[in-house]
Amino acid sequence: MQVSMNINGAQRTDEVEARTLLVHHLRETCGLRAANVGCDTSSCGACTVLLDGEAVKSCTVLAAQADGSEVTTAEGLVAEDGSMHPVQEAFRAEHGLQCGFCTPGMVCATVGLLRENPHPTEREVREGLEGNLCRCTGYHNIVRAVLAAAELNTAGSTPAEAEVRA
Ligand code: FES
Ligand code: FES
Repeated sequence: MQVSMNINGAQRTDEVEARTLLVHHLRETCGLRAANVGCDTSSCGACTVLLDGEAVKSCTVLAAQADGSEVTTAEGLVAEDGSMHPVQEAFRAEHGLQCGFCTPGMVCATVGLLRENPHPTEREVREGLEGNLCRCTGYHNIVRAVLAAAELNTAGSTPAEAEVRA
């Protein structure tokens, strides 16, 4: 079957099997490697992307279900001039960036969280990210990074939305 979606600002149509998961479509068909497969149980969040602006675990979504949608991966949060998204910048500044396996999902989950709740408390941040695991338990700096990102009023924007506001 054919699926069409806008991925990181580019429209594309691909042939996929009906059983193809969105994370596999992104990684194997589209060559985007930020969303990772870290578990078989929908529990780690390493595969988190933004689907029409909402953070979702892309291992729980069929590519067919994303047909007609806008998908943003951590690669797509970087602006065209190479500058980082405010959330990525906050993760860098607060040492929330850790391994490449969990971080892209953490960053996408944070964009989704701040979109829903632009000024979360520390407890709301911890609750909001509880679906994203770091095997190294390095959560403290991640929470600080999310709170720092919340200080920036475009932190919950997808790149397209941030561009409109600028
Ligand atoms: S790979 Fe999707 S939650 Fe672990
Ligand atoms: S830093 Fe990525 S799993 Fe801990």
